[in-house]
Amino acid sequence: MRMYDIIKTKRDGGELDDEQIRYFVQKYTDGEIPDYQVAALLMAVYFEGMTKRETTTLTFAIRDSGETLDFSGVGGVRADKHSTGGVGDKTSLVVMPIVASLGVTVAKMSGRGLGHTGGTVDKLESIKGLRTDLDIGEFKRIASEVGLCIIGQNKDLAPADKLLYALRDVTATVDSIPLIASSIMGKKLAANDDCIVLDVKVGSGAFMKTLDDARALAEICVDIGRAAGKKISALITDMSEPLGNSIGNSLEVAEAIETLRGNTGGDFLELCIGLSAEILSLCGFGDEEKCLSAAKKAIADGSALEKFARMVKAQGGDERCIYDPSLLERGKFSREVIARSSGYIMGVDAEKYGEACLALGAGRNKTDDEIDRGAGIILRRKKGDKVFAGEVIATLFSNRNEFDEAERKVMDGTLIGEERPTHGKIILERIV
Ligand code: URA
Repeated sequence: MRMYDIIKTKRDGGELDDEQIRYFVQKYTDGEIPDYQVAALLMAVYFEGMTKRETTTLTFAIRDSGETLDFSGVGGVRADKHSTGGVGDKTSLVVMPIVASLGVTVAKMSGRGLGHTGGTVDKLESIKGLRTDLDIGEFKRIASEVGLCIIGQNKDLAPADKLLYALRDVTATVDSIPLIASSIMGKKLAANDDCIVLDVKVGSGAFMKTLDDARALAEICVDIGRAAGKKISALITDMSEPLGNSIGNSLEVAEAIETLRGNTGGDFLELCIGLSAEILSLCGFGDEEKCLSAAKKAIADGSALEKFARMVKAQGGDERCIYDPSLLERGKFSREVIARSSGYIMGVDAEKYGEACLALGAGRNKTDDEIDRGAGIILRRKKGDKVFAGEVIATLFSNRNEFDEAERKVMDGTLIGEERPTHGKIILERIV
């Protein structure tokens, strides 16, 4: 078999057979095919797409490029949630403690942020001492004893995805539905949970900019998961506006903790409750109403907060910040962004705010960039709010005292108009 022929078949709009797909994934993982040939193939896939069968085979080949986790000895139904990535998306820090407090076992591997989107691992590491680089033995022990453990990607799981993702990142081939679906599901299947809920984001801050594309991505992921024998569903959720009121690693942890303490509301809480109920329902907890009210109760009675505190402690973190979020780091410098006109906030552009956060130092442009965990944005106004000229729209934080670019992006990303806009729902569709 020659890589040249595989590239040519896809370039000419043909279908790759299973053997060709498995061949290029395995040989690339083994270092036997050079980047330039795989880059050419990825670009051909970007333009020509893949059939459902090709995408499924690619996903299984990515899963099989490394180990699959074996959870024998860890009790309970295991569930995972995966977001396709957004701005201000700290839902895992709330949803996983909620479902874990209700008896679901959560042994979750999460990613780091890249570009304008954040990652759960970076957020968690803003809790002093908390380790996300646990070995598989510790991971399983904490998952078994506490019922909740969140760590970073293990290098032995789906190694092909790590290589392919890095290559896609520098060849402008990230936003392709078959490549995103196989990347997400290859990792999820290697992590081997029983139930998976996908949070497929749509809007300016997401990879998928239109509802049709988000639906197509959700459907193929759900089909692949089911073909692998998993219980799986997807929620398509709005990412045209940042989620909640803060963006940036430690600011988001503080907001997640406040949510677990019952002190927040709005779009973020609504999404956390919806996702928690979806997981509970997949795990056989009961009907929609029962799952929704159990999720709300887990916040109201403090059991989700307590579960999160136990996880933080077990992973070496300073659990005092759970009871006093002001102990979390916040950038030494700050600047307030002021409205120049009066009216209603017509829209807060998630992508622009995400880029502003990147300019403040909260994210990375390259995978090995250092990040400023105290950098970020607190949104003082969101879509539909009234604002008067001279009032604060957002507060920027950073340890670098460089705010001009971020301020420009926040101004650009905030649209003020005369008529109050209608508020859409955060959960747009459910794909089963
Ligand atoms: N998240 C992933 O894990 N992979 C992608 O390709 C995009 C988002």
